[in-house]
Amino acid sequence: MKRSSDQDLAIGELPRSRAELVADRQLLDSMSGEMYRARDHMVGFPVNLDFDYRHLARFLAVHGNNAGSPYGSSEYRLHSKRFERAVVRFFADLAGAPAQGAFGYVTNGGTEGNIFGVYLGRERFPDAVLYASAEAHYSIPKIARLLRMEHEPIATDAAGAMDLPALEAACLRHGTRAAVVVATVGSTGRGAVDDLPGIRRVLAGAGTDRSHLHADAAFGGLLAALGPHPAPWGFADGADSVTVSGHKMIGSPIPCGIVLAHDRHVEIIRVHDAAVGADDDTISGSRDALSPVLLWQELRRLGRQGLARRVNRCLSTARYAETRLRESGRRPERPQGSNTVLFDAPEQAVCEKWNLLSVDGRAHLITMPHVTEEDIDRLCTDMNHAE
Ligand SMILES: Cc1ncc(COP(=O)(O)O)c(C=O)c1O
Repeated sequence: MKRSSDQDLAIGELPRSRAELVADRQLLDSMSGEMYRARDHMVGFPVNLDFDYRHLARFLAVHGNNAGSPYGSSEYRLHSKRFERAVVRFFADLAGAPAQGAFGYVTNGGTEGNIFGVYLGRERFPDAVLYASAEAHYSIPKIARLLRMEHEPIATDAAGAMDLPALEAACLRHGTRAAVVVATVGSTGRGAVDDLPGIRRVLAGAGTDRSHLHADAAFGGLLAALGPHPAPWGFADGADSVTVSGHKMIGSPIPCGIVLAHDRHVEIIRVHDAAVGADDDTISGSRDALSPVLLWQELRRLGRQGLARRVNRCLSTARYAETRLRESGRRPERPQGSNTVLFDAPEQAVCEKWNLLSVDGRAHLITMPHVTEEDIDRLCTDMNHAE
């Protein structure tokens, strides 16, 4: 059966009766009510629902547009590029990008960041093979098709990270061809982190000296940077470009993300003065001016310390979930430093209520900032009652 949120709607013709207008209002009220209530049971998706930007609602009555590069200005004056640059600077510092020569922009999500990173690699090395772990995000094979690149999925180890001997064998098989490698920092399925310095060592050992390493840190970048055991994920660890999500650990009503790269590499794809008075060095032309304002506001509110506290709270809730699920006999497992807990899936009705996806009988619980210990207790109670 279709959920109410999946049922088709029609626009229809004017004039509308008063009853129809009231029904429209009720429809919108009931949808927003449903979305707000869903927060109490949303434990299976890597999105944060703990934010409130309603005081910025005035930006909903104006068309902002950050078309073209965030650097420099625009002939379209209603833009938020200085907010965008501040957000990019924050993430560039976090990812260890050089103070001079770093480029970045606010994307419409992790996929656009991955397209940008791989595109940059492909333009630097047109003969490159695209290597990514078999557990990389589903956007990666699509990007390979989009950019007409040969794609080599690399097997993963027991923890779900890219198997380095398998990468080495694949590089050797491709001889002198260049490599674009996507390292996943926090895999969508189980939060696994690929070993960036290890990948660099493998490339050097295999004689693949023309390479571009893109870190897809959409999910795990902030965990890797700010958790109690920081993991290599950024420029100092060998990345040439990095994707981070804006709607996962930070939170936004609109999907968004940040992509970072070395400006000297971006110069290869840049078309000067092509985008309403700005350089064209982004994937999209017209770009959302609201997300940079929201991200700027939230980063100003939290700062690096507040974000670190948030990350640590997520990890502490994940540890709590592991304990409670073990007590419930659900065989939980969680990679170190990850907020994803895999466990034996409960029955379908419980999965649906708690928005849990399951693969091969294992569900994944993700302790994003809005998920509390009380939520975990309620989930365990539901699972125990359902048995
Ligand atoms: C590791 C990883 N990369 C990329 C993405 C894609 O992000 P988006 O859905 O914002 O395009 C996701 C989303 O879940 C992800 O987990």
